[in-house]
Amino acid sequence: MCLPTGDTPGPVYRRLVRMAGSGATSLGRATVILLDEYVGLPPADPARCDTRLDRELISGLHRSPSVHRIRVDDLDPVAAAAAHDLVAAAGIDLAVVGLGMNGHVGFNEPGSGVEAPTRVVTLTPGSRQVATARYGASAEPLSGITLGMDRLLASREIWLLVRGATKAAILKRALEGPQSAECPASWLRRHPRLTVLADEPAAAGLG
Ligand code: F6R
Repeated sequence: MCLPTGDTPGPVYRRLVRMAGSGATSLGRATVILLDEYVGLPPADPARCDTRLDRELISGLHRSPSVHRIRVDDLDPVAAAAAHDLVAAAGIDLAVVGLGMNGHVGFNEPGSGVEAPTRVVTLTPGSRQVATARYGASAEPLSGITLGMDRLLASREIWLLVRGATKAAILKRALEGPQSAECPASWLRRHPRLTVLADEPAAAGLG
């Protein structure tokens, strides 16, 4: 499965940790591939996607899944993206993704087409700011590496997690607006097994 970070999945990860602790579930046999990663942040930076996933999910699990992080520390970004894409090429059963305020999925920022590949991307000013202001990054990252729309749409199943009233307008646009690169999340509607898991404030504007 592919897993995101950001603020949205926190409650889901906390619940998974509790369930794993009580024996109700286990991720011990799962293979996890990270959805995206910042380029240029030092190892263990609190905003790094790998650090966050470890902190919020993996470290709390009794039996750890096998985790494919993005190799930004030992490869140059283009090579790290290629290596990650190779892992994703084996196929993803379940892609869990969040929704950016600008409609991005992973770091597939606006402008990403339906076949956008796994690659190094320039982050939008908004995404850069979120890294420092909300996630506590030690510096503003200029770019990131993301699984492509192509790999996400090739997954067997996709779950889009959306939380909070601030996401209501962009969720409406993603689900009810035109399918276009201006809102990459709108491409998810092409998938036959897309499940949208939104809380009430986020879903409030849906028709
Ligand atoms: C994070 C990621 C991003 C976030 C999105 C929403 O790994 O891929 O696309 O899912 O920016 O972020 P939050 O959940 O913090 O609002």
